[in-house]
Amino acid sequence: MNLPDSKQRIAQLKHLQAWETHSARLLGGWLPAIRLWEAKHEVGLHLWQDLETSREIRTRLWELRVNRPDTAAVTAGVLPAIQILASAQYDFELIAGIYLGVKQALAQAYRDYLAKTHATWDAPSIDILTRAASRKESQIEWAEAYLQQVAYKETDQHLVQRWTTFTRELIAATGSVTGENPSIALPTPPPGYSSRLPFGEAKRDSRFKVQLQGFERPPVEDTDAHTLWQFVSYTMEMQAAETLGSVLWEVDGMDWEFYYDIARHCHDECRHCKMGEERVRELGHEIHEFPQFVGNYAWRQIYDPMRRYAMLTYIIEQDSFALKHETYKNYVQLNDHASAEAILYDIIDETMHVRWGTKWVGKLMEHQKETLSLDDIIFECRQAVLDNSLAPAQRSSAKK
Ligand SMILES: [Fe+2]
Ligand SMILES: [Fe+2]
Repeated sequence: MNLPDSKQRIAQLKHLQAWETHSARLLGGWLPAIRLWEAKHEVGLHLWQDLETSREIRTRLWELRVNRPDTAAVTAGVLPAIQILASAQYDFELIAGIYLGVKQALAQAYRDYLAKTHATWDAPSIDILTRAASRKESQIEWAEAYLQQVAYKETDQHLVQRWTTFTRELIAATGSVTGENPSIALPTPPPGYSSRLPFGEAKRDSRFKVQLQGFERPPVEDTDAHTLWQFVSYTMEMQAAETLGSVLWEVDGMDWEFYYDIARHCHDECRHCKMGEERVRELGHEIHEFPQFVGNYAWRQIYDPMRRYAMLTYIIEQDSFALKHETYKNYVQLNDHASAEAILYDIIDETMHVRWGTKWVGKLMEHQKETLSLDDIIFECRQAVLDNSLAPAQRSSAKK
C-alpha cells in the first residue's frame, strides 16, 4: 500500500481546517433558530472548539511551511458544499447534516490520517489530530442523543435520515475531506430546499415564555430582588451569542482570524448566559420561571452585520462597565462572594470583547466599502441602541 506523501497530507490538512471553520460558521448562523435551550449551549461550545481545532491545524501547517492555507482552491473545495448544507429546513436537519455528515467525515479523516502517517516524522500532527478526532467524536455523541430527543417522530426521523445521507454524498462529491479527486458536480438538495438564513428572530423552546421587553432594574437596596434580576439578566445574553452567530455566518470573505475571535466571543456570551442560569438556580429558582427576551436579537437583525457587531462592542459592552464595576463593589460589601466573582470574570471577558471590537469594526467597514467614518458609525449605532433596545439597563447606559 502506498501511503500518502507529505504533499498530499498538507493538501488535506488545508481543506480540513477550512471545513472546521466554515461548518462552525454555519452552526453560528443557525444558533438563533435552534429551539432546544441546552442545544444552543452545546452548539455555542462546539463552534468554538471547531475554530480551536482549525487554529491548531493552521499552526501545524505553518510549521509545514504553509503560511496561507486559504487558497482559492481550498475555498472552492469547501464553500459551495457549505452553501448547499445551509439549505436544511429544520434545526434537527441542520444538526444531523453538520454532525452526522460533516463532523463524522472529519473524525474519520483524522483517524485515517493518524493511521497512515509516520509516528516519528509527523509526530506533532499526531498530537493535534488525536485531540481533533476525540473532540469531534464527543460532539457527534451529543448530536445523536439530541436527535433522539427532538426528532423522535417517524416523519422527523425520515427527514434526518434523508438529510444525513444527502450530506454524506455531498461531502464525498467534494473530495476535499479525504483528499481524493472531486466529482465534477455536487448533488442538489431535495425540491423546495433553499436557505432560510439569516434568521430574523431567535427561537426558544416550549418551556419558556417569550417576551420582547426586558425587566426594569429593581432598586439596589432591595438586595435579593436586585441579585436575582442581575443573574436572570445574564441569561438574556443568549441573544448576544445569537447575534454573534449571525455575524459569523453572514460576513463572508474575512481573514480567518476574524472568525476565530467571533467564535470565541459567541461562546463567551453562551458562558455568561450559563453563569446566570447557574446562579439563578443557586438562588433557588429555575430560569423557566422567568420570560426570555428575544427582542434585542430581532431588532439588531435589521442592521447589517458590521453595525450589529459595532453596537455590541462599541456601545452595549463598552457602556456596561460602569454598572458592572458598581455592582461588583456592592457584592464585595455585601459579602456575596459568588456573585462578586461571577461579575469579575464577566468584566474580564467583556474587556476582551471591546478590544476585539476596535480590532475588527474598522476592518469590517473596509470589507463592505463603508462610506461613513468610524465616528459616524458609532454615533449611528449609539442612536440605534437608544431607540431600539428593549433592555432598560442598556438604554440608560447608552444615554450617558
Ligand atoms: Fe456577556
Ligand atoms: Fe461580551
